[in-house]
Amino acid sequence: VDQPLILGIETSCDETGVGIVRGETLLVDAVASSVDDHARFGGVVPEVASRAHLEEMVPTIERACREAGVQLRDLDAISVTSGPGLAGSLMVGVASAKALALSLGVPLYGVNHLASHVAVDIVEHGPLPEPTMALLVSGGHSSLLLVPDVTSDIRSLGSTIDDAAGEAFDKVARVLGLPFPGGPHIDRAARDGEITIDFPRGLTTGRDMERHRFDFSFSGLKTAVSRWVQAREAAGESVPVADVAASFQEAVVDVLTRKAVLACREQGAQHLQIGGGVAANSRLRAMAQSRCDDAGIELRVPRPGLCTDNGAMVAALGAQMVLKGRDASRLDLPADSSMPV
Ligand code: KG4
Ligand code: ZN
Repeated sequence: VDQPLILGIETSCDETGVGIVRGETLLVDAVASSVDDHARFGGVVPEVASRAHLEEMVPTIERACREAGVQLRDLDAISVTSGPGLAGSLMVGVASAKALALSLGVPLYGVNHLASHVAVDIVEHGPLPEPTMALLVSGGHSSLLLVPDVTSDIRSLGSTIDDAAGEAFDKVARVLGLPFPGGPHIDRAARDGEITIDFPRGLTTGRDMERHRFDFSFSGLKTAVSRWVQAREAAGESVPVADVAASFQEAVVDVLTRKAVLACREQGAQHLQIGGGVAANSRLRAMAQSRCDDAGIELRVPRPGLCTDNGAMVAALGAQMVLKGRDASRLDLPADSSMPV
């Protein structure tokens, strides 16, 4: 088939995602999120997420097919996130995908969640130039990936040595009394603020930079923000939430974009793709655009809905596996919660 019809299933965290792709064209992206069920706990609760996937899986598959005008029997293959992610959540997706593939008699492709975040840009902006540099920033990951071929050859140049970028947004939001997940709230608050506080930029100078050229560290920044806020409160002064949000956000975005552009230069990549939930951040998008313009690098960022976890990205990578003739997975495909890229 030259334009394979692929249904992709994503359940690595708290979104039940089902996407359908024909070749390199996105037909539908259906997502059911359990994020509201986790908000009162201030973070994703694995058991709650797994149960929500079980409830949402079949309705989300049905909705995706209905909206795409596709019958299950028309599908050429099923793809599914087999790792990394929450073990119980992954298992719901993998078991569902196996059942579909087995009953329809079509191949099953287990794919890597991080690679899918990169691959989704193919259905958004067309084929990925080789090599592409990818900056993946989400609640669980902050990585710089050199991508010669998204189906078979991704090299991690560096990643966070402590908190992920999105995790830092979520923790700082909590310090500022903003709801979970905090990223969008900090983004919004920062628009009314000014960058008045010079928070630390982890692993950017001296020996730290030498040893961790393309790694990130955000836990020191989070602690610095906490201390700054506590000192204000202890002095009986009000906390300028918008200014703290803007200053914190600036520190994160400065480090992410600086290292990403440096990596492009050193590796000879003329294209930078940014994915993961934090790629929805308006300041990250703006700073990445201006630094890429200055460096003559083409920036590719999918629309926000395709940056956060979704099924379209899994279908997009599944379609590439079929188009490039990669081997299908066996039906005893395991879920691998700590799968490397
Ligand atoms: O990719 P994602 O949906 O899930 C995974 O973690 O895999 O990313 C969620 C993360 C959360 O930490 C959330 O706070 C962050 O992405 N996020 C943002 C924004 N929108 C979502 N962070 C900063 N600015 C935003 N606008
Ligand atoms: Zn993700």
